Amino acid sequence: MVRHIKSDTDGRILELGPGTGSFTRALIKTGIPEEKLVLLEQSQEFTTLLKNSFPKATVICGDAKDVISIFRPLGIEDFNEIVSGLPLNAMGIERRRIICDEGFKVLKRGGSFVQVSYLPRCSIPDTVIAAHSAKRIYCGVTLGNIPPAFVWRAEKH
Ligand SMILES: C[S@@+](CC[C@H](N)C(=O)[O-])C[C@H]1O[C@@H](n2cnc3c(N)ncnc32)[C@H](O)[C@@H]1O
Repeated sequence: MVRHIKSDTDGRILELGPGTGSFTRALIKTGIPEEKLVLLEQSQEFTTLLKNSFPKATVICGDAKDVISIFRPLGIEDFNEIVSGLPLNAMGIERRRIICDEGFKVLKRGGSFVQVSYLPRCSIPDTVIAAHSAKRIYCGVTLGNIPPAFVWRAEKH
């Protein structure tokens, strides 16, 4: 999920649906400063947990479909990378499209939207890939996870 992200990346990294913070911890382990992490989580309970666990990160309780309207008033216009643990495949296609499209609008060129999925195919809709001239890259599968977890990222060009 985080292997492609350079630890010396200069901008911010957005994590969507960080939950209990397993990907957040992996990001920090690669050497990325906690200050560069922006965590957007819908659950108030997880938001409180994340604020306590990652006090230097920006932690916001909100819906990933509202990325632009949440971050613009905070003066945050774009991100170098997006890491998502959102249950995209459990959502309807329109909600999935809106969330991914919002993400790509705030993602800098050269950055990736990386997504975990319990289905082998990439959960980022074709229409979003085409609209943002993105390229899908298969990153691998973790068979140790139950069910197995597939990772795809889409790089913005
Ligand atoms: C499968 S869990 C992520 C697990 C995470 N990697 C961890 O270490 O706990 C999915 C998370 O996405 C959050 N979520 C679901 N829909 C969301 C949305 N529209 N916006 C933001 N967060 C959302 C859930 O509250 C949940 O914490």
